Amino acid sequence: MLFSVTKTMDQDMFKGKVCVTGASGYLASWLVKRLLLSGYHVKGTVRDPGNQKKLAHLWQLEGAKERLELVKADLMEDGSFDDAVMGCDGVFHTASPVLGPKSDPKARPSPLTCIYVLDYCIILLMKKPNGFKISTSSAHCTPHARLEILDPAIKGTLNVLRSCKKNPLLTRVILTSSSATVRVRDDFDPNVPLDESSWSSVELCERLQIWYPLSKILAEKAAWEFARENGIRLITILPSFVIGPSLARDLCSTASDVLGLLRGASDKFSWHGRMGYIHIDDVALAHILVYEEVNAQGRYLCSSRVLDNTDLVSFLAKRYPSLPIPNTNRFDRLHRPYYEFNTSKLKTLGFTFKGIEEMFDDCVASLKDQGYNFV
Ligand SMILES: NC(=O)c1ccc[n+]([C@@H]2O[C@H](COP(=O)([O-])OP(=O)(O)OC[C@H]3O[C@@H](n4cnc5c(N)ncnc54)[C@H](OP(=O)(O)O)[C@@H]3O)[C@@H](O)[C@H]2O)c1
Repeated sequence: MLFSVTKTMDQDMFKGKVCVTGASGYLASWLVKRLLLSGYHVKGTVRDPGNQKKLAHLWQLEGAKERLELVKADLMEDGSFDDAVMGCDGVFHTASPVLGPKSDPKARPSPLTCIYVLDYCIILLMKKPNGFKISTSSAHCTPHARLEILDPAIKGTLNVLRSCKKNPLLTRVILTSSSATVRVRDDFDPNVPLDESSWSSVELCERLQIWYPLSKILAEKAAWEFARENGIRLITILPSFVIGPSLARDLCSTASDVLGLLRGASDKFSWHGRMGYIHIDDVALAHILVYEEVNAQGRYLCSSRVLDNTDLVSFLAKRYPSLPIPNTNRFDRLHRPYYEFNTSKLKTLGFTFKGIEEMFDDCVASLKDQGYNFV
């Protein structure tokens, strides 16, 4: 059982100093926990270091008092990450806006709002003989999507990478991307599992007005371009939907969607259709593995199992008969292409994935421990 794992790798060995952006987030908190257990000194960035309630779970982590520092940084403030990154050997950039109610396709802009759909200019840094010049490529989105999702994701990633460039000691940057950068397309052979060579379609995301995948695609592409131009050793991790315990009691957007499903709500998961799932501990371990493994390079899909939402709820209903899991007939058939993920690249590094049972067992146990009820 996951909760009994308190001592794992080389706990007494100091492994160097790393920065984790957005350290109080769902995924990042678990990454900080694993990094501390592995012997790293962690400099975490948060938007509000004074918010003791929001950060309490980080200070309770084993090793936090000795080897955790929290510093203030905001993706939308130029140079904000300079201090956090300076002196670190590696950076894990996880901070990025995740979903949020208005990016939910069910909350698509009204026809009136669509009048204001604008050509959004994505700033990409292009190398010129005399330095760097801003050029643009366009994507179509609403002003809300631009301000709340695309800007922090894309400009924020470049902001972090510019700070990385200033640190001569830096060995690697690990960027948390998403399997959404791989699977949102309608032009592939469903008999061939999608792998890291696949890129989601920007045009399809715009047409469907799904801003979160769009933000992750454009942020990762901008990161690759910047890293290539500036000699930064970048590796990206592409997790599917993350399942598992939340260290913070306040649940992030995806964890509260899961709680909703376990309480009988079908709306969020109805839209998800077919989806890959991954244990939160595996996501953290995969980040650390590709950081430490000298031969790691490029993109890494990180997903244990892909399931249709009807198969997911059938599994959940059987495994947790006391929970009000929604019936399969509450889910519409979405007519999206069938896909699987080929995760052999990560497995080649020796990685093994936890199964769907362990993901949800740990998630349900943790929600119960935190006092959430399911009725
Ligand atoms: N959850 C999933 O299923 C999943 C799957 C694939 C990939 N991912 C990726 O994993 C990463 C973490 O996601 P999560 O699920 O852990 O969500 P989360 O708990 O909402 O974490 C997002 C983090 O980003 C930070 N952030 C947002 N806007 C910021 C800004 N302007 N400046 C500084 N920090 C900002 C948030 O800081 P505050 O706490 O201050 O708001 C928070 O720490 C994201 O890159 C996400 O795309 C998640």
